[in-house]
Amino acid sequence: MSKQMSHLDNIPSTPGKFKMEKSPYVHNRLRWHSSLAKLTFWSFIFLGLILIFFFRSPSSNPLPQDPSRRSLRTYNWGGPAWEKRVRSSARVRSRNGISVLVTGAAGFVGTHVSAALKRRGDGVLGLDNFNDYYDPSLKRARQALLERTGVFIVEGDINDSALLRKLFEVVAFTHVMHLAAQAGVRYAMENPGSYVHSNIAGLVSLLEVCKSANPQPAIVWASSSSVYGLNTKVPFSERDRTDQPASLYAATKKAGEEIAHTYNHIYGLSLTGLRFFTVYGPWGRPDMAYFFFTRDILKGKSIPIFEAANHGTVARDFTYIDDIVKGCLAALDTAEKSTGSGGKKKGPAQLRVYNLGNTSPVPVSDLVSILERLLKVNAKRNIMKLPRNGDVQFTHANISLAQRELGYKPTTDLQTGLKKFVRWYLSYYSGGKKATG
Ligand SMILES: NC(=O)c1ccc[n+]([C@@H]2O[C@H](COP(=O)([O-])OP(=O)(O)OC[C@H]3O[C@@H](n4cnc5c(N)ncnc54)[C@H](O)[C@@H]3O)[C@@H](O)[C@H]2O)c1
Ligand SMILES: *[C@@H]1O[C@H](CO)[C@@H](O)[C@H](O)[C@H]1NC(C)=O
Ligand SMILES: *[C@@H]1O[C@H](CO)[C@@H](O)[C@H](O)[C@H]1NC(C)=O
Repeated sequence: MSKQMSHLDNIPSTPGKFKMEKSPYVHNRLRWHSSLAKLTFWSFIFLGLILIFFFRSPSSNPLPQDPSRRSLRTYNWGGPAWEKRVRSSARVRSRNGISVLVTGAAGFVGTHVSAALKRRGDGVLGLDNFNDYYDPSLKRARQALLERTGVFIVEGDINDSALLRKLFEVVAFTHVMHLAAQAGVRYAMENPGSYVHSNIAGLVSLLEVCKSANPQPAIVWASSSSVYGLNTKVPFSERDRTDQPASLYAATKKAGEEIAHTYNHIYGLSLTGLRFFTVYGPWGRPDMAYFFFTRDILKGKSIPIFEAANHGTVARDFTYIDDIVKGCLAALDTAEKSTGSGGKKKGPAQLRVYNLGNTSPVPVSDLVSILERLLKVNAKRNIMKLPRNGDVQFTHANISLAQRELGYKPTTDLQTGLKKFVRWYLSYYSGGKKATG
């Protein structure tokens, strides 16, 4: 037996197998050499694996340089288990069902729309970055709600093109319901970059991936009544001018409508924009007046009620969430297919814009009176002049176009809708959770 053979033979595969030999000196030296070689060998393999993992990891995006873009984080996605969840969530379960990517699925409207689609047997995959514009625990609670119905929300950013491409690789979505956005009018003065990031750059990233997808999906997305800006002609009709936005938020939504036009024109993407009018209801948004009025009235804190010049009334066309959901589903169901393929247009495609409102503006002071009755607490009203930082005095939707083409017909008045909101609010925030702020 050669020395080499013997030394190979004597490497203990397990400690218990090691046996002493006649020539301990030679043997030990050989053993030492072989151990060092082994150690070096495995170190290289280990290092290599770490490097491969690091570079192939899709979430190794650079960190944002601009601190104002606080919604940008890195996320973990990918892998067989993750893909399986994505596929299973997006699987269509009813005949003639559609498969929809819902962006902003952990948001107020996104949660309701996702649940409604899932309920009727459509395939639904959510996408949300769970940013902290408002209390993320509410987004997590909505996520838990959706999880119970079989909807998986992928954690990631709509401006992450690699992630979007991956999602379209795994699932051939027939539709995209694009609801992810930086919402809110006043926050734009605090963090303008977040509006550009989500409502402009994010929208373009999404449309870029959609136009290259095969087949191209049809896209329905949320614009806003705020595009009417300083328009004074009421009720607001789709044909009215929208070139006088009163906030950066409104300007980014208006830009979105123009960007939609471009992608429809160049690439044949089927695009439908929905101008929502002040949506409210259970699981709503804590930054909106009906929500924080409820919180502050219950706390005995005074609430600011805005008044326009000359004691002018500030009013909103409040629209109940269930009505909005019906409008969203009708828009998806009536959307025609995109016409392009391989990133090229093949023919003209559908391009639509609809108001989704309630057609009955209610003065904000009436909103407060309804809340007082429902909560059985008197509000401390603090009448203030409407600041010129984005809010408009009045919104009122003309919905005849949506009525005609989508069969849209809102059925919930503010009193009825707020009753449902208050019932949800009290049960949500008494169940061990506390209102924030
Ligand atoms: N609620 C309303 O009254 C109203 C009115 C007009 C328009 N809209 C529009 O409707 C849509 C839904 O609004 P909402 O009230 O549900 O708001 P929301 O803030 O509750 O939902 C938006 C969701 O998108 C996510 N998101 C934001 N930026 C993202 C990004 N870059 N990548 C991934 N996810 C991101 C957020 O985490 C959030 O969960 C928005 O586009 C909003 O601008 C809402
Ligand atoms: C969006 O993503 C692109 C790359 O896909 C990047 O160049 C750009 O800086 C991002 N924009 C914002 C505002 O985050
Ligand atoms: C509402 O819009 C339609 C077009 O969709 C228009 O014909 C109608 O005159 C508008 N109604 C009012 C009251 O402005």
